[in-house]
Amino acid sequence: MAIDYASKIPNNVDLASNKQLQRALEHWQPKYLDWWREMGPEGSANHDVYLRTAVSVDAKGWAHFEHVKMPDYRWGIFLTPPEEKREIGFGEHKGAPVWNDVPGEYRSTLRRIIVTQADTEPASVEQQRYLGASCPSLYDLRNLYQVNVEEGRHLWAMVYLLHAHFGRDGREEGEALLERRSGDADRPRMLGAFNERTPDWLSFFLFTFLTDRDGKYQLAALAESGFDPLARSTRFMLTEEAHHLFVGESGIARIVTRTLEVMKQLGTDDPVRLRAAGVIDLPTLQRYLNFHFSVTLDLYGGEVSSNAATFFNMGIKGRFEESKLGDDHVLSGASYPVLEVDGDRLRERHVGATLALNERLRDDYIKDCQGGVDRWNKILEKGGATQRLALAHKAFHRKIGVFAGKHVTPDGRVVSEAAWHAQAPQWLPSDADHAYVQAISGAVTKPGQYANWIAPPLRGINSQSPDFEYVRFH
Ligand SMILES: [Fe+2]
Ligand SMILES: [Fe+2]
Repeated sequence: MAIDYASKIPNNVDLASNKQLQRALEHWQPKYLDWWREMGPEGSANHDVYLRTAVSVDAKGWAHFEHVKMPDYRWGIFLTPPEEKREIGFGEHKGAPVWNDVPGEYRSTLRRIIVTQADTEPASVEQQRYLGASCPSLYDLRNLYQVNVEEGRHLWAMVYLLHAHFGRDGREEGEALLERRSGDADRPRMLGAFNERTPDWLSFFLFTFLTDRDGKYQLAALAESGFDPLARSTRFMLTEEAHHLFVGESGIARIVTRTLEVMKQLGTDDPVRLRAAGVIDLPTLQRYLNFHFSVTLDLYGGEVSSNAATFFNMGIKGRFEESKLGDDHVLSGASYPVLEVDGDRLRERHVGATLALNERLRDDYIKDCQGGVDRWNKILEKGGATQRLALAHKAFHRKIGVFAGKHVTPDGRVVSEAAWHAQAPQWLPSDADHAYVQAISGAVTKPGQYANWIAPPLRGINSQSPDFEYVRFH
């Protein structure tokens, strides 16, 4: 399972032994680099960035750190080692040996799932393309770039599967992945949240906290897959994803810490006075949180979904931590509660458990998010503040599923359309909020300096000081 860095495409899948596949991927590689130059982090091609690169796929010690120029980053194909005698863990093939090749009858379903996951990876790079120009520190700039190069690698992980297992169709999908563009009216990315803008670092931290976490849950469900190459690819992606979530959670924690500090200095929680002092007031943070949370919840799809049931029954997409769950892994006769709007209230209804798998994954995700919010609230509590941050109700501001077109408040009350719109400016970021966050954004690029609205990190990357020169400009 050693990684071959001598070949054009670093890999641990013995690419050299399959010349046809190697050629196809070497053909895709320059197109990928063209895409990176066009849509990757703007103006960054000559920066030396302190990045980690995978050197082995072992749980420990897989990362190597050094300053590299991003176009020279060694994007490659890394799968976790095969588990001996692994069996399909759920659905109608439970107990059968896992598949190393795509079962013919599941081909189009599997391809769709892989393409949908793959599409999110370059999309997020595109969304974050301009953030370098307003980085709050070199430490943060490096983290942004680390996330970006790893999302690029996740694209490689999925394109490898498409090339290796889906023939000509897979190669065409690989090309199309480099042609769609986040937010483009004619050729948008496939999922809504990946066409939203990430215009500032507050949005970036919430995106990595919330939307990368959706990635974690989707990847975790695919890591259970009976299609073993998909399971092994996504397992390694998950090890990279952990850092993205850290960037988000710690970024918001540092904003909260800094705001709290100024609240104490000034003896006020008045947003006007806090804005005059150049920090992000908690109501603004809450509105951004509401927005990013609600658009990310939509990524899980409809509450009741026959597709979700099919993916599970086929053994393609499991539940979060499927193998640790103590049931029959078939879910025959089991049910799961889903919410719906009934007149002016929310009502719970039980549906077949396999039909509710999207909702179940969303609920697992919400619990995980709540953990992060609780940790932010601990900072507020310890600092003596009375305010708290909160996740909006899952029915708030939804565009997909049973709550689409319904009017539910962040605390879960069904209200009239007029009442909802009248209060929306308190719940979602306004143009003025965006303008304020833009106004305090500006690049801070001296080692050891930090934007006024964010506290320094507690520690640096890879045991370096927080004030290390993480990015060198030329
Ligand atoms: Fe990713
Ligand atoms: Fe990520």
